[in-house]
Amino acid sequence: MGATWTFHSAGQIIFGPGAVTQLGEVATRLGLRQIHLISDPILDRAGIVAQVREPLRQAGVEVLVDLGGEPEPTLAAALHCLERARAWQPDAIIGLGGGSNMDLAKLTAKCFTHGGQPGDYTGDDRLPGPILPLICIPTTAGTGSEVSCADVYTDPEQGIKLGSISNYLRPRVALIDPLLTHSCPPRVTADSGIDALVHAIEAYTAVDNAVFPLPPGLRSCYQGRHPMGVAMAREAITLAGKHLEQAVRNGTDAVAREGMALAALYGGLAFSNVGVALVHALEYAVASFVPVSHGAGNGLLVPHVMRFNKHGREDSMAEIGHYLGVAANADAAIDAVAALANRIGIPQRLRDLGVTETMLKPMAEKTVLMTRILRVNPRQPSVDDLMGILRAAF
Ligand SMILES: NC(=O)c1ccc[n+]([C@@H]2O[C@H](COP(=O)([O-])OP(=O)(O)OC[C@H]3O[C@@H](n4cnc5c(N)ncnc54)[C@H](O)[C@@H]3O)[C@@H](O)[C@H]2O)c1
Ligand SMILES: [Zn+2]
Repeated sequence: MGATWTFHSAGQIIFGPGAVTQLGEVATRLGLRQIHLISDPILDRAGIVAQVREPLRQAGVEVLVDLGGEPEPTLAAALHCLERARAWQPDAIIGLGGGSNMDLAKLTAKCFTHGGQPGDYTGDDRLPGPILPLICIPTTAGTGSEVSCADVYTDPEQGIKLGSISNYLRPRVALIDPLLTHSCPPRVTADSGIDALVHAIEAYTAVDNAVFPLPPGLRSCYQGRHPMGVAMAREAITLAGKHLEQAVRNGTDAVAREGMALAALYGGLAFSNVGVALVHALEYAVASFVPVSHGAGNGLLVPHVMRFNKHGREDSMAEIGHYLGVAANADAAIDAVAALANRIGIPQRLRDLGVTETMLKPMAEKTVLMTRILRVNPRQPSVDDLMGILRAAF
């Protein structure tokens, strides 16, 4: 008998240019009267907050606009949003923005519903039950947080990024309007876009579901590679290969923007069921030492991790080469990913981010502890292996 797997998503996915105009209808159907909208000053200035408010106003929904979002959100930002939610008592929360604001909405909704602070839920499957309805509206194309089971924040005091995963964190509605990404600047487009590709590559090359090494008694949202995850990852890789560079070069190219919005969605569905792996583990460690956006860190590390993972996953990597439109061979796939990252301006070396040689060992030691993520990886790295990868990326 084969292994059993499951596939989770947002409750509803609404996708298409202009989809934001349907928000009033969505709110009415869910019976919402009072919404806490979490976004940030940049999206307010870009007119995107107003675009989201208008259909809600027409539907007679009261909205608290909270511009407390920030890139790579800190614990302080999450606590601020939580305080505002506790005062406003919303019946739903909207996360409007990139992964950062969507994650803030998740952090707020879970603590508002179940009490406590973000740190109380760090780890895998620790939420006790459903949370306040969440509507996530991405304005970048990359993280897939609009459908994912994950949220992430930074605790500057501890110097670490903390994540939690739970299927209760999946939004009730993912409303994806690619037109909202047209104003996304090239740097953010590149960084978030390569994150979508990394999600798909990590899911596509993950350990198989049938041999997923979850110790008895432990639960995880991640399950290893399974047929739905593979299908989503394949689509995401193909779409990112086709559209990422053009979306960076010409932000108003509607075809490229729509292609990347779809790539991000598929990538999110892939990784949030299969899992992310060694690229993400290393990125969390690197970002604990130097400031770097999640996408840029992942984009820098991914070719190096692919080289390490090639042994054991050569066939899937060759298929990735084929989906990217180069030769169906693992080395060609790795070179194509590295070249794409380079062309869209992803930093090429850790030292360019401010990493020093003395940081490499503690980074490797931090990474090796991330068992929840590492068990998804097709090859288990030792600290020495990790030092090898980090040195190659240095
Ligand atoms: N929860 C998940 O599943 C998941 C997955 C991957 C990454 N993440 C997290 O997501 C965060 C990164 O998210 P991101 O890459 O989407 O970027 P981001 O949300 O950090 O946004 C970066 C900047 O771009 C601006 N911006 C976003 N959209 C814009 C638009 N349309 N026009 C103008 N400016 C715009 C924002 O205001 C912000 O200043 C990290 O914290 C990462 O850890 C979460
Ligand atoms: Zn990611």
